Amino acid sequence: MKRDSSLVTKAAITAVGSYVPEEVLTNHDLEQMVDTNDEWIRSRTGISERRIAKNPQHSTGFMAVKAAQNLCQNNHIDPSTIDLVLVATITPDYQVSSTAPYVATQIGATNAFAFDISAACSGFLYGMSTAASFISSNQYKKVLLIGADKMSSIIDYTDRATCIIFGDGAGAALFEASDNGFGFENAIHGNDGIGREYLNIQEGGSLYPINENTFNAGKHYLNQEGKTVFKYAVKHMAETSKKVIQNNALTAEEIDYVIAHQANKRIIDATTNHLGVAEEKVLTNIHKYGNTTAATLPLLLADFESTFKKGDKLIFTAFGGGFTWGAAYLTWNYDYQN
Ligand code: UT7
Repeated sequence: MKRDSSLVTKAAITAVGSYVPEEVLTNHDLEQMVDTNDEWIRSRTGISERRIAKNPQHSTGFMAVKAAQNLCQNNHIDPSTIDLVLVATITPDYQVSSTAPYVATQIGATNAFAFDISAACSGFLYGMSTAASFISSNQYKKVLLIGADKMSSIIDYTDRATCIIFGDGAGAALFEASDNGFGFENAIHGNDGIGREYLNIQEGGSLYPINENTFNAGKHYLNQEGKTVFKYAVKHMAETSKKVIQNNALTAEEIDYVIAHQANKRIIDATTNHLGVAEEKVLTNIHKYGNTTAATLPLLLADFESTFKKGDKLIFTAFGGGFTWGAAYLTWNYDYQN
C-alpha cells in the first residue's frame, strides 16, 4: 500500500540565517598579491570577489555564532528550545575542542548537545542527513545546522592555485519536526579516500605533525590539484544528483531549484548540464563569496530565501575534500514573510 507522505514526520527547514565578514577581497586586490588577473579568475571560476575575516578574533566560531543569532533574531527563535547544534567545518577554532559546543553556549542553546561535522565542502549536506535522521527517528525536534569556514586561515596568499577561489562565511538552517508533508525527503552520499592525495593540508595532522621545517615550507596550508578535483566533482555531483532525481521519480521540469556547492561556476554549469535543468533554476552567489566550503549551501538558502515558495522541489548537491560528495532532495516548507 502506498504510504501517505503527509503522515510521516519530516525534518523541515523552518528558518535560515547567515553572516559574511564586511571585508571584501576583489580580483583586482589579488592581482597585487599573486600573478593573476581579473579576467582569468572570472572566466575560469565565475568569482569576482570574496569576503575575508581580517580581524583575528573573527574565527569560524565567531561567524557561526553570528549566523545562528541572525537566524534566531529574525525568526523569534528561543535558543533554549534547540535540541542539537551541528557545525559543519574544516576550520574549527581549535584542533582540540570542537566548535559546536562553543557556538551552542554563545547563542544560549542551553538545552542542546552539539558536535562538529568534518566533511569539507560536503559538510552541510552531510549535516542535512544527520539533522533529518535525528528528527525523523523522533529523538529530537529542533536541530540547528550551521556551515561555517574561515578558509583565509588555511590559505597561502602566495599560491594562486588556491587563494583566488576561497572566501570566509557562515550560514545556518533550523530543521524542525513537521507533519505537513514538506521537508527533507532523502539523500545519497559517497566518498573515495583517494581524494586526500589531491586536496589536503599535508602536515599538522597525526600522520605528519608540524615542525619547523614543514612550517617553513608552508605545508600547513591548503593544497589542491585543481584539475583532478574539478573532474571528480563534476562526475560525482552529476551522478548522485541524477540518482536522487530518478529515485524520487522527478523530471528536470519538476525541479524548482538546484542548490549546488559553489566551488567553481564551470563545475556548477557542467554538473547541471548533465541534469538538463534550466539555467535559471540553478542558484549561484559564487561571484560575490567565492568558495566558502561548508558555508556555500546555507549561504544560498539565505540569499534566495525570499524566492522559495512552500512546496518547491529543491535538489542539493556538493563535493569536497576526502573526497566526499552527495545529493539530497528537500521540499521547501514555507513562504517568505518579511
Ligand atoms: O570545493 C572543492 C575544492 N576545490 C575545487 O573544487 C577546485 C576545483 N578546481 C578548479 O576550480 C580549477 O581547477 C582551478 C580554478 C583551481 C584552476 O582552473 P583550471 O582551469 O583547472 O586551470 P589549470 O590549473 O589547468 O591552469 C591553466 C593555466 C595554467 O597555465 P599554462 O600551464 O596553461 O600556461 C596555469 O599555470 O592557467 C594558469 N593559472 C593561472 N593563471 C592566472 C593557474 N592559476 C592561475 C591564476 N591566474 N590564478
